[in-house]
Formats: sequence, structure tokens, C-alpha cells
Amino acid sequence: MDVTESTLILGIETSCDETAAALVMGGHDIVSSVVSTQVDLHAEFGGVVPEIASRAHLEFLNPVIARAIVEAGVDESRVDAIACTVGPGLIGALLVGVSAAKSLSLAWDVPFVAVNHLEAHLYSAFMEDESLTFPLVVLLVSGGHTMLIEMQDHARYRLLGQTIDDAAGEAFDKVARYLDLGYPGGPAIDEAALLGDPEAIRFPRAILDEGLDFSFSGLKTSVMNYVRKHPDVSSADVAASFQAAVVDVLVVKARRAAREVGATGIVIGGGVAANSALREDLLDACAADGIQGFLPSRSMCTDNAAMIAAAGWFRLREAGPSGLDVGATPNLRLPLIDA
Ligand code: KG4
Ligand code: ZN
Repeated sequence: MDVTESTLILGIETSCDETAAALVMGGHDIVSSVVSTQVDLHAEFGGVVPEIASRAHLEFLNPVIARAIVEAGVDESRVDAIACTVGPGLIGALLVGVSAAKSLSLAWDVPFVAVNHLEAHLYSAFMEDESLTFPLVVLLVSGGHTMLIEMQDHARYRLLGQTIDDAAGEAFDKVARYLDLGYPGGPAIDEAALLGDPEAIRFPRAILDEGLDFSFSGLKTSVMNYVRKHPDVSSADVAASFQAAVVDVLVVKARRAAREVGATGIVIGGGVAANSALREDLLDACAADGIQGFLPSRSMCTDNAAMIAAAGWFRLREAGPSGLDVGATPNLRLPLIDA
């Protein structure tokens, strides 16, 4: 099929704890985007409970898709293809979206496009800024991943560095839980940090001076040890100082990566890319280095289906539809090139 500026794609996302559907035209024009979050259902457990997530997706997915279509003000016959996250993610959660997407593809007789959730995070920036030029460095920071990627072109990714232990979002979630700041941890620390002093405590910045890999588990331990020794310390100061340590490392390494590959700019994606301090520091760093800094809007950083539809548009244009035999793949990796 011809994939054009008017190709309308229904995106579906159910890989973790957001049930989402969106209609996106031409890979960038968001016609509607609906996200139903399960945060309240998982909050009392302090983390995502896979079984609860799958059941909630089952309950909410059809209404969420219906709402995305109604909000778009189009007839379902206008949809040209269905793009859906097939991984990585929780198997039961993924299966709900993938089954729905394949059923709709059969019922409406339109192509099914299997989308890699990580690749979709890389595409959030493209929806909002079509002027992006390659090569770009993408800092992908979510609950499960922390990666620096050189994007040489559409679907041409080279891994430059990644975390050797905890993901950045995981560190935010664990530290927030330890400080009793609430769930999910990232936004809670972001908010608490506004009232704290980022220089109050000098937490370690692991492997800051060399390479492009990250390590956050020592930082988490160091925060816990500090709080144990100083029980009266202000949580806001701990939150702000912890956040400053994470952000420093992320920005220093993203900047180093951009310099090494001669990137035109740095793009951030994934839930942690919604962090206020990271956004501010990254833009300052890019301005200082004379390259562009691209920050997708916060709602496009955390999980949503518009990014799935956008990535689906590019995938459909580059590689055509996926077979219905492509299934949910919990440990799906980003398709990388070697050199
Ligand atoms: O991309 P995402 O929505 O889901 C995954 O694919 O993992 O990322 C979720 C992660 C969580 O760890 C959450 O705490 C973190 O992103 N996060 C933040 C902020 N908003 C979400 N971390 C720091 N600051 C934020 N404002
Ligand atoms: Zn995500």
C-alpha cells in the first residue's frame, strides 16, 4: 500500500500499565490520543502487578479504542492500518493489545503493523518536530531501559551505551519508595525536588568520566545509607540531590555521545524524559554545544499510543505490513546495526 501524508493509523499500546489508543495521520499529526492509566490500581502494591494489568487492559481497551475514534471525529472505515506494541513488556498485558489489533485488522481488512515499544519511544520526538535531521543521539530513559542510541536514519540504530544495572526510572521508583514519596516514583521525586536543595548532599556519579555506560544501583544504595545515618534529613533535599546526581550523569554522557558521533542534536524519550531537571539541563547543554535539543511534550514521553501509531507509520512505509503470525514478545530488543 502507498504510505502517504494522509495515511491514518490506529495505534494500540498495552505493554505495561497504560491502556492507550490513538489516531495519527502521516506519522506525525495526532488526531486523537487516549491514555487510561492504571496507576491507582497498582499504587497500593508499590509497583505494577502483571495479573491486575492484564485484566484492566481487557476491561478498558475496547472503550479506549472507541473513544479515540469518536474523539477523532472520523468513521472507523477511514483507518488505513493498525499498529500495536508487540514488545517489550508484560506478556499478559501485551497479548490483550496484540489480539485486539489483529482482530480489528481482520475485521476492517487493513494491515497490521507490529511495533517495538522502544522504537516507538524514539519516535515521540518526530511527531512534534519533523525538521529533525540525522545523525541524532537518542537518550532513552524509562522504567526498564537506559540507553544511548545513535539514530543514523529511520530504523538504523546503533547502541552507544546502556545501564549495567538499574534503569534510571527504576532508580527513581526505588528511591521514592524508600523515601515514602508515593508511586510512581519519578513524578513524586520530580515534585518533591522542587522544594529541596540539589546541592545539599553530594551523591556519587558513577563512571562519570569515561565511556557511555551508566550505573545507578550504587547511587540508590548510597541514598539509603545516607538516610539511615541521617534520619532527620529533609526528604526534599534528598530527592533534589538524588535527582541532580541522575541528571548530571545522563546529561554528561548524552553530550559525550553527541560529540563522538557528530550528532546534529540530542533527543530524549521514555518516562524519565518527562523529568523537569533533565529537560532543563539537557537544553542548556545542547545550547552550550551548539546542537539541537529535542524534548517531546511530557505526555508523549510517558507511555502512549500516538508514538506507537507514529512508529507504525514509518515501519509500514519502510518495511510494509507485519504478518498475523508475529506475536507478543516480552523481551523484544531494539533492532540494532553493528557498525
Ligand atoms: O516509558 P515509561 O512510561 O514506561 C516504561 O516503558 O517503562 O516510563 C516509566 C518510568 C517510571 O520509572 C517513572 O517513575 C518514570 O518513567 N518517570 C519519571 C517522571 N515521570 C515518569 N522519572 C523522573 N521524572 C519524571 N517526571
Ligand atoms: Zn515506555
